[in-house]
Amino acid sequence: MVEVISRLIFPRVVALITTCDRSGRTNVASFSFLMPVSFEPKYIAFSVAPERHTFKNLNEVKEFVVNIPSEEMLKEVWICGTKSGRDFNKFALSGLETEKSLKVLPPRIKSCPVNLECIVEFMERFGDHYIIVGRVVEEHVSQIDFKPILHYSGKIFYKIGEKVSVENSLKRVY
Ligand SMILES: Cc1cc2nc3c(=O)[nH]c(=O)nc-3n(C[C@H](O)[C@H](O)[C@H](O)COP(=O)(O)O)c2cc1C
Repeated sequence: MVEVISRLIFPRVVALITTCDRSGRTNVASFSFLMPVSFEPKYIAFSVAPERHTFKNLNEVKEFVVNIPSEEMLKEVWICGTKSGRDFNKFALSGLETEKSLKVLPPRIKSCPVNLECIVEFMERFGDHYIIVGRVVEEHVSQIDFKPILHYSGKIFYKIGEKVSVENSLKRVY
């Protein structure tokens, strides 16, 4: 049986990624093909399909903000992941409020407990997506132990469940 990759490696954390074009017009879209890459300096990677408006923006302005939503933001995540900035102003559509970033042009989303301002350092096509690697140049963390955050597995969202400590779970196994 062959399954799509998004159903095989899951759940994945969901981020709202903000970008802008060279005229300063902003956009926001949902992403779950996302991973931390390096501690110091901090790097983040995500995968974007070339047909996304986000990709067009990234080609014009090589900056983005990774905004991590909380569980209450499911509706906004769905809007931003199903409509394109090509056709809609998704900030108006979703009601998401923004504030100016400190080091990059795309804005950050106020209601997200984590905002990571990034500069693109690597962009390369792999199959039907481009991998984008960004260096984190500024971070805003209003709440670190927020829970549950949203996880995604192709049209199904999950919340983080019970906390499991490594010591306790290993004791159970050995
Ligand atoms: C929860 C969720 C996660 C998504 N993850 C990705 C992803 O990692 N990469 C991608 O290219 N599209 C992803 N999408 C699809 C885009 O968000 C969607 O195509 C969106 O309309 C793109 O907006 P844009 O055209 O304004 O960039 C995801 C959608 C949802 C709902």
